[in-house]
Amino acid sequence: MRLAVNGIEIGCDLQGPEGRPWVVMIHGFPFTRALWTRQAAVLAADFRVLTYDLRGLGESGLGPAPQPLEAYVDDLLALMDAVGAPTTALVGLSMGGYIALRAVERAPGRFWAVALADTRAEADSDEGKLARAAGIQALHAGGQSAFVAGFLPKLLARPDSETGRALAAMMLGNDPTGMANALAAMQGRTDTTAALPAFALPALVVVGELDTLTPPACSRAMAERIPGARVEILPGAGHVSNLEAPDAFDAALTGFLSVAAPR
Ligand code: MLT
Repeated sequence: MRLAVNGIEIGCDLQGPEGRPWVVMIHGFPFTRALWTRQAAVLAADFRVLTYDLRGLGESGLGPAPQPLEAYVDDLLALMDAVGAPTTALVGLSMGGYIALRAVERAPGRFWAVALADTRAEADSDEGKLARAAGIQALHAGGQSAFVAGFLPKLLARPDSETGRALAAMMLGNDPTGMANALAAMQGRTDTTAALPAFALPALVVVGELDTLTPPACSRAMAERIPGARVEILPGAGHVSNLEAPDAFDAALTGFLSVAAPR
């Protein structure tokens, strides 16, 4: 379905029984809500689950550019209002984690738990900012295929696989302008490291053992700063760990949310 928030239409799906605690799942860059197909189905046995496409990706509208990461957080909070979710657990992978971290910092009372997958609290380094700049320019110059071909090996430990081909197709289905807008938003995002010690909600940090974009060391450092946070390192998985180690990912996530859920 589509919901109108903040002047754009957002493509989203709602699953699971009404009246159960909410879980909102935020995909990474440059994917769509289809990234969560398997996990959303699993969680829908016990939770009311919302998956949605970030602005400019999947079925969601582009909105004006430039748009800061704050706009993506605004969309999340507005979507929660639109579906009638006063509080929710957040599950965010990578860029979805950047959005989740900033959302918890901005509106801590609206979240009962946060699961941060393959993400980091730090802002981009200068090197990272320059890589984003090159990506933005390549996408604006019509280089989407080359961008996706170059990015895929960074996303998966086994890019030459069925999973790799499906992920490439998901990325190529996106609007290059929406992809460039998301790169610019990540390039300009704030550093949430200093906010982590004040996080007063159950937190799970999950990362693929072979993640090179947001390596396990970043996850450990992030979890050490969040009071009570647990880290799960998923053997054999790269950056998109929910696709490369789905059984371990699902077990970690469902175990965490079922204990953390409000009664
Ligand atoms: C993602 O998976 O969302 C991106 O790889 C994150 C990033 O590029 O920083």
